[in-house]
Amino acid sequence: MQRTLILLKPDAVQKSVMGDILARFERKGLKVVGLKMLQMDQALCDDHYSEHVTKGFYKFMSAFMMSGPIVAAAIEGHDAIKVVRTMCGATNPADALPGTIRGDYAKNIDNNIIHSSDSEESAAKEVARFFKENELFAYSRSLVD
Ligand code: PPS
Repeated sequence: MQRTLILLKPDAVQKSVMGDILARFERKGLKVVGLKMLQMDQALCDDHYSEHVTKGFYKFMSAFMMSGPIVAAAIEGHDAIKVVRTMCGATNPADALPGTIRGDYAKNIDNNIIHSSDSEESAAKEVARFFKENELFAYSRSLVD
């Protein structure tokens, strides 16, 4: 069982597709174990994207990430990191297949709808960055299973 982090970026919120994206993960059998809407500030953005802060696109990217509310979700399931990345599609929406989240909704690499953790190490760090322990929930699905 793995946990991973997704961020629904400001364009996902503005396009009113938050529910659809979360529903895709739920339909796949993954479990939402943490969920919140928040506004990124510069410190949080720089911390989350620390590998990218020196890159040419970062100023524009951080302005976009701080341009409006985002939604953070912790998602749990078998191979959740890989399954979620596959469902998101390629980082550049021009390469993202139809049926993937970016393939269906994202306009371009500047506005690519969703972030997801890319490894076990980054998933653990990223879940902890956005959620305190008491904001993550363990629950059974015995009422529906
Ligand atoms: S990835 O998604 O981790 O495999 O890709 P990587 O190249 O490591 O991450 C790049 C993140 O920066 C965002 N971004 C851009 N990348 C490349 N070029 C441009 N112009 C650009 N603008 C933004 C890209 O979406 C990745 O962030 P996340 O949040 O993971 O999508």
